[in-house]
Amino acid sequence: MLTRVHHVGIAVVDLDESIELYRAALGAELVHRARNEKDGIEAAFLRTGDGEVELMSATTPDSPVGKFLAKRGPGLHHVAYGVSDIGGALAHARAAGLDLIDSEPRMGMHGSLIAFVHPKSMGGVLTELVQT
Ligand code: CO
Repeated sequence: MLTRVHHVGIAVVDLDESIELYRAALGAELVHRARNEKDGIEAAFLRTGDGEVELMSATTPDSPVGKFLAKRGPGLHHVAYGVSDIGGALAHARAAGLDLIDSEPRMGMHGSLIAFVHPKSMGGVLTELVQT
């Protein structure tokens, strides 16, 4: 059911600066950049070999990422796992008693169906499932 570690989400203050850091320091390639005003987020996806890193910045301080940055500072935000059947994976997670943030899959910023699982169910790590 799990296909791979799909990406790691990192909250950053300055998206352009962070993209350049990952390009220059690791040779990561920018593959997608998107802004969602409703959720107050701008994100960039960089390929790091088989997986990706998702750099996330806030477009407003009162957005979820803005609040995360104010409370915790920049750093690891979530880990995303690829799944071959997100509906089945969510049903399995629900049956296992996990606290789901998204009870149904929704469209993510990278154009794939996603769903988040609450960090309290996952050892303190916000966990994202991505349809692959
Ligand atoms: Co993500």
